[in-house]
Amino acid sequence: MESPTNRFLNLPAMIFPVLLLFLRASAAAGIAPDTLNNGGNITDGGTLVSSGSSFTLGFFSPAGVPAKRYLGIWFTASPDAVCWVANRDTPISNTSGVGVLVVGSTGSLRLLDGSGQTAWSSNTTSSAPAVAQLLESGNLVVREQSSGKMLWQSFDHPSNTLLAGMRLGKDPQTGAEWSLTSWRAPNDPSTGDCRRVMDTRGLPDCVSWKGNAKKYRTGPWNGLWFSGVPEMVSYSELFSNQVVVRPDEIAYIFNTSADAPFSRLVLNEVGVLQRLAWDPASRVWNVFVQAPRDVCDDYAMCGAFGLCNVNTASTLFCSCVVGFSPVNPSQWSMRESGGGCRRNVPLECGNGTTTDGFRVVRGVKLPDTDNTTVDMGATLEQCRVRCLANCSCVAYAAADIRGGGDGTGCVMWKDNIVDVRYVDKGQDLYLRLAKSELANRKRTDVVKIVLPVTASLLALVAVALYLVWICKLRGRRRNKDVQKKAMVGYLTTSHELGDENLELPFVSFEDIVTATDNFSEDNMLGQGGFGKVYKGMLGEKKEVAIKRLGQGSGQGAEEFRNEVVLIAKLQHRNLVRLLGCCIRGDEKLLIYEYLPNKSLDSFIFDASRKHVLDWPTRFNIIKGIARGLLYLHQDSRLTIIHRDLKASNILLDTEMSPKISDFGMARIFGGNQQLANTTRVVGTYGYMSPEYVTSGTFSVKSDTYSFGVLLLEIVSGLKIISTQLIMDFPNLIAYKKDLHFSRHGSYGKREMRRNWWTHRLLKVIHSMKF
Ligand SMILES: *[C@@H]1O[C@H](CO)[C@@H](O)[C@H](O)[C@H]1NC(C)=O
Ligand SMILES: *[C@@H]1O[C@H](CO)[C@@H](O)[C@H](O)[C@H]1NC(C)=O
Ligand SMILES: *[C@@H]1O[C@H](CO)[C@@H](O)[C@H](O)[C@H]1NC(C)=O
Ligand SMILES: *[C@@H]1O[C@H](CO)[C@@H](O)[C@H](O)[C@H]1NC(C)=O
Ligand SMILES: *[C@@H]1O[C@H](CO)[C@@H](O)[C@H](O)[C@H]1NC(C)=O
Ligand SMILES: *[C@@H]1O[C@H](CO)[C@@H](O)[C@H](O)[C@H]1NC(C)=O
Ligand SMILES: *[C@@H]1O[C@H](CO)[C@@H](O)[C@H](O)[C@H]1NC(C)=O
Repeated sequence: MESPTNRFLNLPAMIFPVLLLFLRASAAAGIAPDTLNNGGNITDGGTLVSSGSSFTLGFFSPAGVPAKRYLGIWFTASPDAVCWVANRDTPISNTSGVGVLVVGSTGSLRLLDGSGQTAWSSNTTSSAPAVAQLLESGNLVVREQSSGKMLWQSFDHPSNTLLAGMRLGKDPQTGAEWSLTSWRAPNDPSTGDCRRVMDTRGLPDCVSWKGNAKKYRTGPWNGLWFSGVPEMVSYSELFSNQVVVRPDEIAYIFNTSADAPFSRLVLNEVGVLQRLAWDPASRVWNVFVQAPRDVCDDYAMCGAFGLCNVNTASTLFCSCVVGFSPVNPSQWSMRESGGGCRRNVPLECGNGTTTDGFRVVRGVKLPDTDNTTVDMGATLEQCRVRCLANCSCVAYAAADIRGGGDGTGCVMWKDNIVDVRYVDKGQDLYLRLAKSELANRKRTDVVKIVLPVTASLLALVAVALYLVWICKLRGRRRNKDVQKKAMVGYLTTSHELGDENLELPFVSFEDIVTATDNFSEDNMLGQGGFGKVYKGMLGEKKEVAIKRLGQGSGQGAEEFRNEVVLIAKLQHRNLVRLLGCCIRGDEKLLIYEYLPNKSLDSFIFDASRKHVLDWPTRFNIIKGIARGLLYLHQDSRLTIIHRDLKASNILLDTEMSPKISDFGMARIFGGNQQLANTTRVVGTYGYMSPEYVTSGTFSVKSDTYSFGVLLLEIVSGLKIISTQLIMDFPNLIAYKKDLHFSRHGSYGKREMRRNWWTHRLLKVIHSMKF
């Protein structure tokens, strides 16, 4: 379940670059200024602080590299969060003396090393005196003092971070570009090989590159959202997204609302883009969203004319669009789908009496628009005619969906289409096929469509009659029964457990609306990636927690099924109790027992609440979790792998007895199954076992690994991702890199880390005296 502090507030923010900064104490007493006047300077140790204190400019050294000094801007409350670095590729060595930043008389901002050599320069010139100012937005600007004319700003030269108000894009007229470039390593700000750019060929599309390989694209901007990320609309109240298209600028910009947490978009060293949100209460950065999200986000995962779908029961995510077949079927069955698909029947292209036609592929992220023809003024019908008239055109779609309906504008693909996937609220893609293919389809469609339609009509009539009957019989219980029927149908359609009769407690939507006072903000306990959690009163005095899954989150729907079907079958004092559920239309809700003490992480990592957990209590919590886990793995009727065991998923009741929650990612193992494999690695970095992260293999041992991590956390009170630990053991991404490297070289490091872990665990277990 989503406890108030779950996911959104306390999801451990693992992957962002964690630095320890060795800042020399600021020489200046009192409040540092935000402005550096003409001819003025700041030496290493001095700082500029923005007017509202949000940002600080100064000198820093990354963790473990005291010999290199960089000039940067960081978030004042969290000095690890370096948002911009001036001399990222030209650090000042500590042997060359103390660095100094000066505003030169010619209007340039220059960083000099101890010997007076220029380490970095803004390269601006001005005849009038200039000043440099650090604005509250985190932007460092150089202006002419008298006229206020802007000469230079750091927002035009991003490092690896995009802040509110910064642009990611291009100026098509001058060729100037605003892009993100990753750091080389968490403690090395020099230019890394991952980039995030705005691709302005075709429709605007944000693309991540690693070296020369395209890794991920958001999909083209459709006026409201990036085609592949419709969910961005669901959090637009917090972070509004905008794409500006003007002759001199095509750029993505985000803005944060007044009540949104401070957030930044960071491209990390491995090319993952994350929106990190600052939680001032627990003083941690939480991963709000990240991209890529899953296998289908990998660029061109399924090759030309392939279509990727993560919500399939099998692990074969790729299929071909209609009218196409795999180029190499044997490869496909081996899960290698890069070869793509080819046309079953060649296009006729207007020759003779026959012509081609179109079939619509619904609900997709539009293909890469690199080599397309775009006409924002055309209608969809004009688009169709134009595509048909041009032999190289293979597909078309609406470019702008703001007006509703089928949309306006036109984008036409030639030769082939790549990187198409299903997304909730996806768009329509019109695919060109030979007429014989279309006719072919229609004949079989008669059987495929008419028969089921007739059948379902009959069924509907039957249901209607049945309902009328029920209605007469049971009066106002009617509504509830229909809802329940819909619910049970929904839950049993695609689940692996089949349609065993589920004893599901059922709550009507109306009751939930009443219980939560129409989902009022006051009753909200927390918010996560999959929706919001409310506190409610059901019946007389029964306090419950209600998880409302966000609309339009496909993953959420899958999780919902999982969670209901699983928890409904499980009963154990150390597992959170599901009291009921509700489905109505798009609304999916889960009702849990209400646990006033929230989750474990809100105790063990909180300096002010830590003391509540004395050693016997901690020991009891550990035992409780172990019992719950043992039940999941061995003692229940099923073998269940939780896959996301972590401190924020352990809830505490009034007795401080632990209850495992959040079964959204759990998997069931059949009779003798020991091991499973997935290409969709889900879970939380830091808690996932290395073999799961690298190869997707999981078993009960994966949970045991997470349990071990949890154990360490409970005993030490340190987060697995905390900087204290990272001194000895870099984050898991670094670990992963090591593994990758050692495949070709020695296994030394991997061995070392394993031993380190074992050693650490043994030490802890020893001291526990079971
Ligand atoms: C920095 O400012 C101080 C005092 O204003 C001055 O003595 C020093 O020469 C300046 N350093 C540089 C490199 O301009
Ligand atoms: C520079 O840094 C190195 C590495 O930490 C250290 O050994 C050396 O003493 C430092 N030199 C100066 C002059 O601070
Ligand atoms: C300033 O000019 C130098 C020399 O042409 C160049 O190496 C450097 O990258 C420029 N700096 C910026 C911030 O553009
Ligand atoms: C960003 O949002 C703030 C209010 O939260 C508003 O004052 C400001 O004008 C917005 N900026 C842009 C560029 O839309
Ligand atoms: C159209 O038909 C002619 C002759 O039948 C053939 O030479 C030509 O290649 C065809 N065009 C296309 C695009 O298939
Ligand atoms: C666009 O065309 C270029 C040059 O022919 C090619 O390298 C690239 O792969 C094409 N892009 C797509 C998405 O097909
Ligand atoms: C056909 O489409 C291609 C690519 O979109 C374009 O380059 C070409 O000019 C078009 N031909 C005609 C006759 O419109």
